[in-house]
Order: sequence, then structure tokens, then C-alpha cells
Amino acid sequence: PYDVKVDSLMGLMTLREKIGQTIMYSGGWTVTGPTVSSNNKKYIKEGNVGAMLNVYSVKGTRDLQKMAVEETRLGIPLLFGYDVIHGFRTIFPINLGLAASWDLEDIEKGSRIAAEEASAEGIHWTFAPMVDIGRDPRWGRISEGAGEDVYLGSEIAKAYVKGFQGDDLSKHNTILACAKHFVGYGAAQAGRDYHTVNMGEDELRNVYLPPFEAAVDVGVETFMTAFNELNGVPATGNKFIFRDILRDEWDFNGFVVTDYTAINELVPHGFAKDEKEATKLAIDAGIDMDMMSDANRLYLEALVNEGKVDIALIDDACRRILLTKYKLGLFDDPYRYCNEQREKEVIYKPEFLEAARKSAAMSSVLLKNDDKALPLDKNQTIALIGPLVKDKENIIGNWAAAGDRKGKAISVYQGVQEYLNKAKVIYAKGCEIEGDDDSGFQSAIKAARHADKVLMVVGEDYDMSGEAASRTNIKLPGRQTDLIKAIRKAVPNKKIVLILMNGRPLDLSEEVTLADAILETWFPGTSGGHGVADVLFGSYNPSGKLPVTFPRTLGQVPIYYNMKNTGRPIPPNNPKEDYKSNYIDIQNTPLFSFGHGLSYTNYDYSDFKLSTTTMGFSDTLTASISITNTGDYDGYEVVQLYVHDKVGSITRPVKELKGFKKVFLKKGESQTLSFNLTAEDLKYYNNEIFTVEPGEFEIAIKGSSEFDFEHTFTLE
Ligand code: IFM
Repeated sequence: PYDVKVDSLMGLMTLREKIGQTIMYSGGWTVTGPTVSSNNKKYIKEGNVGAMLNVYSVKGTRDLQKMAVEETRLGIPLLFGYDVIHGFRTIFPINLGLAASWDLEDIEKGSRIAAEEASAEGIHWTFAPMVDIGRDPRWGRISEGAGEDVYLGSEIAKAYVKGFQGDDLSKHNTILACAKHFVGYGAAQAGRDYHTVNMGEDELRNVYLPPFEAAVDVGVETFMTAFNELNGVPATGNKFIFRDILRDEWDFNGFVVTDYTAINELVPHGFAKDEKEATKLAIDAGIDMDMMSDANRLYLEALVNEGKVDIALIDDACRRILLTKYKLGLFDDPYRYCNEQREKEVIYKPEFLEAARKSAAMSSVLLKNDDKALPLDKNQTIALIGPLVKDKENIIGNWAAAGDRKGKAISVYQGVQEYLNKAKVIYAKGCEIEGDDDSGFQSAIKAARHADKVLMVVGEDYDMSGEAASRTNIKLPGRQTDLIKAIRKAVPNKKIVLILMNGRPLDLSEEVTLADAILETWFPGTSGGHGVADVLFGSYNPSGKLPVTFPRTLGQVPIYYNMKNTGRPIPPNNPKEDYKSNYIDIQNTPLFSFGHGLSYTNYDYSDFKLSTTTMGFSDTLTASISITNTGDYDGYEVVQLYVHDKVGSITRPVKELKGFKKVFLKKGESQTLSFNLTAEDLKYYNNEIFTVEPGEFEIAIKGSSEFDFEHTFTLE
């Protein structure tokens, strides 16, 4: 409906003004509000800016919008973008944690809340979701994604986009989503951020592209380029991914923004001789908006005048950006996101904090729980030990937008106190997250000796994950493991429960031998302390399942559940057999598998049935299972459907998740769950075409990816 309007507006625009729409600059932020350099203000007035990032608040955005609307020739409104990744003010668990809930409704609800808050402070556009598959725990940005799996990642991508964009972009409480980073960013060599990526088209299309396509399927409005190169071509100059795949194959109608200064970076990549050439390569590749390279402003007009860039490319980029502004309703009212009253009322609403609390509980994964160390007994005295017990700074994690790292966040200490009388809690910090200081060990040991049970809150600093935060060592940092050892030694017969906060899978091979229970809480967000305490005391029966594999040691990385079998797989009864694909010093299996997560109750899986064992190409196969809650607590179970395509024209993974359901069962209750599978679900790219091939498939419905198949069906 807006095409005619865009055409008539573009008919009035000069080349310079069209280029202006393709440029984004960053503002800054101080305690008193947004800061925008005088250069940027000048550029806005000249019509040289289409969007700003890192500026929010009604006042800050209104001032700049006024400048664009009232002081430029055509009065085209600006777009305001910001990294609203896992919440805006009310911070939800980090995205890897949210993925551990396997709860699509909850993830959609969380991003809806984030959009409510962000839009109330002038923001039109979030640079989220990050839908990069992450299989390397060294990579700091693994914390921002949904983990290692294609199917889970694609479902979660859709949930985020729907939550942010809602059902009507012209509503004042919806914001544009951005699928990032296109593409392959999670496959950076050795987990080092921004590093080289080389992969075959099969891996690209079968693993890394599907979550992006899923985002397009639900109407994501924007895409962001990745920083990495892909098979020798940096993403920001990569025609194959942006023109051939995104636009031609997927018919994407929105616009593409670069990552920060990514056009400039084509020069150090060794792909462009200078920034002018980089500018040409980027627009040729299908990049519509330049984030912070200052390249389009400086070079695009000259490139057109010199006949090096086709003006049609600039028209196309400008048209896409203007169309999005129309969809948001900014031409009807450029200030529709600038309502002081709404700004005051919307943020940190009690129901938002409550939703974040629930998400924190649902994201927690009970990795180990020997002898029912958890849940806690309210009558016991608890020693709360560790550098993250009282923490409010780290608990909201990295990329925490405008989240408050002081007052608003609820620490585990506060959360526990909601359940336990103060007199029953003995606190000792023990040590810092990092550093060598063990002077706090003695008081921690004393606290442990005086308590019935020991709870230790340990983990990473929030800025040890996220962008530019790769690690070569994925153990607990500093002296934390030594502290756990010291406590274990001092109280050999007392139960020790570890509560982990971290942005990546950690190597917990020592901790698993020291602790009776381990609860992975990631960085659980603003209401984190409450949500974690709900799990600790059994108000919420843990239901989180790992969205990513936890290795035994860094040497196993990359390790993920749906690997290939190799020509020399290890025999199950002799894993150490010589000349098989194994290590001489450690087993192949991970410490905790993808899909793993315990509960306070037990679920019995029985009566697996297939509607047929011979499936035609247009048939639907139904697999069903009966699940019974045989324990003492009500709870949610995440039931997972896996298949294995035994023979393919290219080799297929040993297991692939093809569906999941989260089901609530009261104690003693049984339910039969059914999953439908069609030939389309078995499709894959064989380096030439997408194909579904006849043959035998294994199939299972389980509570984690750690199992051996027992059932098969044939596709013919
Ligand atoms: O959105 C981010 C991106 O993920 C990493 N570089 C900076 C961008 C804008 O803040």
C-alpha cells in the first residue's frame, strides 16, 4: 500500500538525499541522557542521516526527530535503533538462557515486553534477534543466540521476531526486528570473534541459514551483516548471500544494515583496496544501510557520478528503507514513539518483572542433583557463598540494553531471603570472580561449617561473554574452583549446591565431582534472584534443557549432538578401540548433552508408536509416546523428537531434532503426545539441490539427545 507514496517521495529526492537515507550514525549516552556529536547534528540537518543508533528516551529521540522533520528539505523522519537483545529496562535471562526454556510462548512474550518498553522510550528498531548457530563455547557471542541446533534455533528466531514486531508494525508498541548476523558468524575459527569462516554450502544451507530463513518467513523487516568473511568473501561484500540467497531465493523485502563499521573493515579484510572501493562492493552486494562506516556519505555520490555504482542500487536501498518507515507509521506521525506519559508508565511494570522472574526460573537447567540435594528445605540453615551471591551487576548479563545493574536487579541473596528467615542465611563471598586472592576462603569455610547445606553462586563476569569476549579457557575463572575444593574438603559430608551464572558452556569436569547439585542459571536477568530462588525452593520445578552441549574439556570443541558418524565410529561396547574416531585421553561423549536437564520429579517415557513404518512422500507419519510423571512434584517436561537419516547422497548427522513439545504433568499424570512428520521435514541440501531421499530413518522421542535409537521407518 505504501509503494505509490514511496515512489512519489523518491521522485522529489536528490541523489544526496537518497544516499542520506542509507546512513546511520551512533549517539552516545551519559548519566543525563543521550549525547549526539555536533557533526551528527549537522549531518541530520543536511539530510545525510536516515537512522541513529544508541539514542533513546522520549526527549532524546524527539529532539533529533524534530531536527530531521523540521530542519531538512523533505522532513523525512529518522529511524532509531538500539540493541534490545534480552529486554530493554526489564532484563530477561540472556538469550542462551531463554533458549534453555524451550518455551516459544515465553520467548515471544519476553520480546513483546522488551518492545513495549523500548518503544515507549523512542526506539523503533532492535538489532535482534541474533540467530547465529553457536557451537563453540570459546566464542563470547554464543551467549546471545539460541545455541547449537538448527530446528530449535529456527523456532526461537520466529518467536523473537513475532514478539518484537507484533502483528501490526504501525502500532506504537511494536518495533522492527533484525535477523543477525548474516551469515556464519558463529563458526568463527577457534571461537575467536570476527575470525575467518570457511564452510561448504551443505553446512551453510543445512545448519547456518535456516534460522535466518525462518525469520524471513515470519516477516522480519531487517537483516544485519556479519563481521566475518565466508569462504574468502567478507559478509558485507558478499553478493551470494545478500543478492542470490536473501533477495532472490527468499524474496526478502526489508532492508539490510551493516554491522558497526563493517564497510570500512573490507579494507583490513583484504577485500577492498580502500574505503571507496569498499563502499562500492557493499552496495553491489546488496547492503542498504551503512552503520557507522561513514562510507556512503563520503563516497557513494562520487561513485555514481564516476559511473562505478548504478544509481538503481541506491534507489532500491532508499526505497526499502522508506518503505519500512512508512510501515512503522512514521510519516503519519514521526513522534508516535515519543509519549512522555507512556514512557513513565511502561517501564519496569510489575507484570514485566513477574514475567522476567518466570523466565529466569524456566531458563534454569538442573544439570546434576544427587540424593535430592535440591530443592532446599526452608527449615535448614544455608551458607550462601561465592562472588555472585549478592551480585546485581553481572546478573543481568551482557548486552543488557538500558537495564539497571544496581538498584532494580534482584540478587540471589535477596531471592533466597524471600524464602528464608535472615537468621538462617550465613553469607561469605569467598573470593572474587577473577584474580588470585584467596584471603576470603577461611570465612567461607567457617560459614560452611555452621550451615546445614552450602549454596555457592559462582560463574563468569558478564563481560566475559558477548562481543569481543572470546576465551581460550572455559573453566570457572579466578580461584572459584579452588574455593569449591576448599569447602568440599572442610565439609565432606554436607551437600554443596552450585548455582552457575555464565554466558557460555563451561568446562565443569572438576566441579561435577565436587558438588552434589548444579543449577545452571546463565545470567538470569533483573528478576533473576527471585526466579532462581523459586527453583531452589521448589516453587518452580526446573524444566530447562540445554540448548548447547557442555564439553568435558575444551579439547573436544567443537562438540555438538548432531555430528557425523565418520567412517570409523567407535563401537559402543569398546569406546577406546584403536584406529577408531576417538581420543586416547578422554571419551567422546560430552559432560552434559544437548537437551539434558533434570527435574525434581521423574518422567517415564513408554509406549512409543508409529502410525506406519513405511511412509510415502506425500504421507504424514505420526509418532507418539506416553509420558508419565512418576515422581513427587508437578512439572513441565520438554519432549524431543529426533530422527537419523541413515544413508544420504551426502552424509547425514547421527541425530537431528525435528520437533519438541513442552508439556505440564501433575504428579501421577500421564499424557500421550503425538508428533507429525512429513517428507518436507526430512529435506536437506546435498550440495546441488534440496532433496528428500528414500531410505531408512531412525526415530525416537526422548527427554534429551543422549540415547540410542530403537525404532525405524522407511520413506519410499
Ligand atoms: O548490533 C550490534 C552488533 O551485534 C555488534 N556490533 C554492534 C552492533 C550495534 O550495536
